[in-house]
Amino acid sequence: MKRFTEKVALVTGGNSGIGRATALAFARDGAKVVIAARRETLALAVVEEIKKDDGEAVFIKTDVSQQLQVQNLFNKVKKIYGRLDFAFNNAGVMAPMRRMDKSTTDTWDEVININLFGVWLCMKYEIQQMLNQGGGVIVNNASTAGIGGLPGSAIYSASKHGVIGLTKSAAVEYTTENIRVNAVCPGPIMTPMLEELFGVKPQMKDAFLSRIPMNRFGTPEEIAGVVLWLCSHEASFMTGCSIVVGGGQTVIP
Ligand SMILES: NC(=O)c1ccc[n+]([C@@H]2O[C@H](COP(=O)([O-])OP(=O)(O)OC[C@H]3O[C@@H](n4cnc5c(N)ncnc54)[C@H](OP(=O)(O)O)[C@@H]3O)[C@@H](O)[C@H]2O)c1
Repeated sequence: MKRFTEKVALVTGGNSGIGRATALAFARDGAKVVIAARRETLALAVVEEIKKDDGEAVFIKTDVSQQLQVQNLFNKVKKIYGRLDFAFNNAGVMAPMRRMDKSTTDTWDEVININLFGVWLCMKYEIQQMLNQGGGVIVNNASTAGIGGLPGSAIYSASKHGVIGLTKSAAVEYTTENIRVNAVCPGPIMTPMLEELFGVKPQMKDAFLSRIPMNRFGTPEEIAGVVLWLCSHEASFMTGCSIVVGGGQTVIP
């Protein structure tokens, strides 16, 4: 039985990696899926894949760090579907790994604008829509780097700590209005983000692997499953939680 028939799910960054797997999983479970990202060709391929499987999906080109584009996204979601039941705020970037003394203000601006400001901006409009319709569920994609420090990625780690702060605060602000807000904290998941990192620094692959007790990288589908569960009625008493999905990795050493 499909769990999300007649429901509408937004996935930011739904054209690649964890977001793509989550968009496909939502569609398989009956939801109408809205994909928001910048790269059109990749996004349209996911929409096509969903439609081939008799699902429903649209792509709304959006840079989550740009307020006018985010406003346009939510205006369109309202116009097309009239509601928003689930939002997975997943869009994010990882900067080149460098120690703090070598990192730049450009990296700070890019990573914080997309990973933190972008999540806050999307949450603001998601919550407005959910308040108007009487409820909804938000899942933010943080990271184990949002719980522990990640050497070489202090700015990324700070952005993900911030996402967890937004998650906990919003969860408590809207508990009585039927809006649940949780975060997933993936450990290393094999996606284009990590493939790019290992392409530039191959030695990082073994270093990452050595810190995963299960001795393997996670798959995007293993995060998608947790996101959908958090959106389901089975997680109805959960809000303000940050769930680590890291093959036994609890804190990054
Ligand atoms: N892979 C891991 O090991 C891992 C671990 C912990 C957390 N995460 C988090 O998981 C999320 C997804 O990453 P991934 O691993 O699946 O990597 P990915 O395949 O590179 O996906 C990143 C996604 O974010 C989108 N995105 C980036 N900047 C955006 C912007 N300004 N506006 C809209 N969309 C934007 C990208 O689409 P466009 O470029 O087309 O916009 C893409 O869909 C990120 O938040 C990442 O920090 C990943």
